[in-house]
Amino acid sequence: GTTLKAAAERSGRYFGAAMGRDRLSDTGFLAIANREFDMMTAVNEMKPDATQPNRGQFDFRAGDAIYNWAVQRGMRVRGHTLAWHAQQPRFWATLSGGALRTAMIDHINGVMTHYRGKLAAWDVVNEAFAENGSRRSSNLQSTGNDWIEVAFRTARNADPSVKLCYNDYNIENWTYAKTQGVYNMIRDFKARGVPIDCVGLQTHFTGGSSLPGNFQTTLSSFAALGVDVALTEADVTNASASQYQGLTQACMNVPRCIGITTWGIRDSDSWRGNENPLLFDRNSNPKAAYTSVLNAL
Ligand code: XIL
Repeated sequence: GTTLKAAAERSGRYFGAAMGRDRLSDTGFLAIANREFDMMTAVNEMKPDATQPNRGQFDFRAGDAIYNWAVQRGMRVRGHTLAWHAQQPRFWATLSGGALRTAMIDHINGVMTHYRGKLAAWDVVNEAFAENGSRRSSNLQSTGNDWIEVAFRTARNADPSVKLCYNDYNIENWTYAKTQGVYNMIRDFKARGVPIDCVGLQTHFTGGSSLPGNFQTTLSSFAALGVDVALTEADVTNASASQYQGLTQACMNVPRCIGITTWGIRDSDSWRGNENPLLFDRNSNPKAAYTSVLNAL
């Protein structure tokens, strides 16, 4: 039979998964990763708190372990993430205003210089919008509304070869205020020449509350602005086969939807407790949703 990556590659797409460094000694995980996936994301190891634990002191050991494992097997790697309200270096909590802005710029430069030329994409900014479509309040937002475009301009200068993405959750439903807020920012960035290449839709579907009925409209609307789109952290409550089929089909129907990443491989890898939201069960067996995704690719 075929595999997720082989099926995705037929249309020039990738099929990815997130992994933590601890999975590098998990033979069950590694066997599936090797067989099925051609893109990896570090689940925590490339986040700001992991890569710069103390001011000016970068630590790439965990991120590099994942990166090296993946590229040695012919996979590519997405970088996640550079600027976010969560999982920040502890010393950022002591900073505000211009000093925090400078620390963000220094962080982007430090991490992107290390990975220059190596990654498929960076989630430059993660989760900067609130559910009502306005900017989420955070210490970074308090440095000024232009913090996101400063992050993207800094990123482009630091590594001109890597795709620069904005990444968020609950932006799958086209009529939702948050989706429109992000859309308006991307449109504004493209109009003013702020460098941005892609939008990552995390695609954490919960309990049928955000069915992908108009999901394809969202993907095609973002793409029409001149950016690629990707499903970056997909997981679905109880791994509904029809919802997985729907999100995969939506991506396949949009030429600029370049790939799908699930946030883990087996249910035992998931951050979502006992929701069993992934394509493989705790015994490493493919679930019904696996077949529905494979058939839709
Ligand atoms: C999650 C990880 O899976 C957890 O291990 C960690 O404790 C918290 O972060 N959106 C994101 C991801 O962009 O970085 C988050 O990952 C899940 C939600």
